Amino acid sequence: MPARAIAQPADNASPAPAGASAARKARFWDRIAVRYAADPIADVAGYEATLRRVQGLLSADLDVLEIGCGTGTTALRLAPFTRRLRATDVSAGMIDIARRKLAAEPVPQLSFAVADADAPVAGDGEYDAVLAFNLLHLVTDLDHALELAVRALRPGGLLISKTPCLAEMNPLIRYLALPVMRAIGKAPHVLCFGADALRSAIARQGMDIVAVERHGTRGKDFRVFIVARKPA
Ligand SMILES: C[S@@+](CC[C@H](N)C(=O)[O-])C[C@H]1O[C@@H](n2cnc3c(N)ncnc32)[C@H](O)[C@@H]1O
Repeated sequence: MPARAIAQPADNASPAPAGASAARKARFWDRIAVRYAADPIADVAGYEATLRRVQGLLSADLDVLEIGCGTGTTALRLAPFTRRLRATDVSAGMIDIARRKLAAEPVPQLSFAVADADAPVAGDGEYDAVLAFNLLHLVTDLDHALELAVRALRPGGLLISKTPCLAEMNPLIRYLALPVMRAIGKAPHVLCFGADALRSAIARQGMDIVAVERHGTRGKDFRVFIVARKPA
């Protein structure tokens, strides 16, 4: 979930076409994986606040899935507070780096795998929590990705997300800078929604919204943190 200076992907104008292959979606992220791993976290205090909040929702008897885990920074921090954390990402480049970090700093509960959040999860109904940090604006179809994430949860399980709500950004960035960045290959496709729309999309999957928060400590925070529970 680190908010980094780069990889604040771009443009909303045209979502990836439905059915875009995982390989196509991974291409941008594979290309920037090394740089993403090296890029400093933009708001360390906000990141740590989110980690503390999530840690408080986890426990050693929970099986957890993280989707869009990037290079595994957050998974490495949170896995010790779970029974098992399986962290996945569509980019093999990101997962390679995550695995190297895990080898250097072993955490027995943690494993990494390449997987597309737009495709069914291996292990439906097996998880007590699904984590999605800086991911939901990047999927091909928000409702479908949420449906899959919710399906992965056991009854009573939690969906915990922190997501840039690009509809809240300065229109100049949204309508000018981001499309240009995307056109020159410096950003992937993104979905553009506000916090209320995201909250409604999660609720449409039958989830009970437990918390809607912002943890940023530097200026306007357009990343909304949402916790939602699958009814028991
Ligand atoms: C902005 S990074 C966030 C990484 C990490 N969650 C974090 O907060 O630092 C977005 C990540 O989502 C991954 N991603 C993008 N589309 C995805 C998809 N459809 N399924 C799974 N991962 C995806 C990218 O490869 C990238 O690692």
